[in-house]
Amino acid sequence: MIPNELSLPLPPAPPVGIGVAMTGCGSSVPEVCVDNDTLSQVVDTSDEWIASRTGIRQRRLASPEVSLTTIATTAAQNAIEMAGVTPMDIDLIILATSSADDLFGSAGRIQAELGARRAVAFDMTAACSGFVFGMVTAAQFIRTGTYQTVLVIGADVLSRWVDWSDRGTCVLFGDGAGAVVLQANESDRLLGFELCSDGRQHQSLNLAYKPEPKALVDGVTIAHGTYHPVTMNGQEIYRFAVQRVPEVIEKVLYRSGLTADQVDWLLLHQANQRILDAVAQRLHIPLHKVISNLAHYGNTSAASIPLALDEAVRQGKIQPGATIATAGFGAGLTWGAAIFQWGR
Ligand code: UT7
Repeated sequence: MIPNELSLPLPPAPPVGIGVAMTGCGSSVPEVCVDNDTLSQVVDTSDEWIASRTGIRQRRLASPEVSLTTIATTAAQNAIEMAGVTPMDIDLIILATSSADDLFGSAGRIQAELGARRAVAFDMTAACSGFVFGMVTAAQFIRTGTYQTVLVIGADVLSRWVDWSDRGTCVLFGDGAGAVVLQANESDRLLGFELCSDGRQHQSLNLAYKPEPKALVDGVTIAHGTYHPVTMNGQEIYRFAVQRVPEVIEKVLYRSGLTADQVDWLLLHQANQRILDAVAQRLHIPLHKVISNLAHYGNTSAASIPLALDEAVRQGKIQPGATIATAGFGAGLTWGAAIFQWGR
């Protein structure tokens, strides 16, 4: 007997040399907002220290009843609506996260919540570079003609994984989600990209498993532990970011046949205002072209780029056709850049 799927008409042959366009974005953050003064009740810190060292003034934190899936799904729904597609149009869902509700992956639950029944969904982890890595991965599936419509979500709830007694890290992070819809398009709006990693420096920023030996039976001991909270060597990560990020953006600009003065918006992972300023300065990009919203949200890891993109698009700052240089960087260590034009 012939299986059902073989009796269906064959899909059209994939178009060759197809382009990629970003046609929708969306975001969602938890309601609870905690400012720096409030944090000084938790650790020995001050609004003055946090704001002057990082630019962060407040962050959103997820209450126990809020899940990563909830905020990621809302962000995705907003992106789908802006793109003018339906959940059933989506072929692929990539969830970039380091703080999934389930270590086996949360993308499938988001797929179910959205009702994107035709899609295949999976999680991808590249820490704060996750969104850029996800976007580039999605573009490869589109360019080969495999998929037409892809949802890329960057979402993290690192408040669940930081050490709330470590003032060097807990003040930096916030929770949030952002999403974009990428679609096959006649013109290619992804002008260039580069992804990088250097595992030799992995110890500078970790959310590592801590194995506890557990004797199962005589002669068999396994590890049965938990995860450490986030640990970071802030100064090392700072130096890494201000060196590698301008370098990788310059490389992608060169490959795209563009110069820095042709960039309309610099959209970096929102880790620290001093990093945003230093990168812009190295690239000779004026500060008024730097998208920054970390004062309101802190470092939301994989969510920070699509969250800032969504705000800037909805505020009318980023207009169709605008050339955006984006870069993510963080644990791994990973970093990567992409240059794209917003819209079809
Ligand atoms: O998304 C992942 C990417 N992560 C990043 O991009 C983080 C990159 N690094 C940074 O942004 C900065 O290194 C930090 C903001 C994390 C720290 O700023 P810093 O200027 O490098 O400060 P520091 O670590 O050198 O600390 C300076 C002082 C220390 O005190 P002493 O030893 O000089 O007495 C810290 O103990 O500031 C102290 N300190 C604080 N004081 C008040 C550290 N955290 C705090 C705090 N409040 N929250």
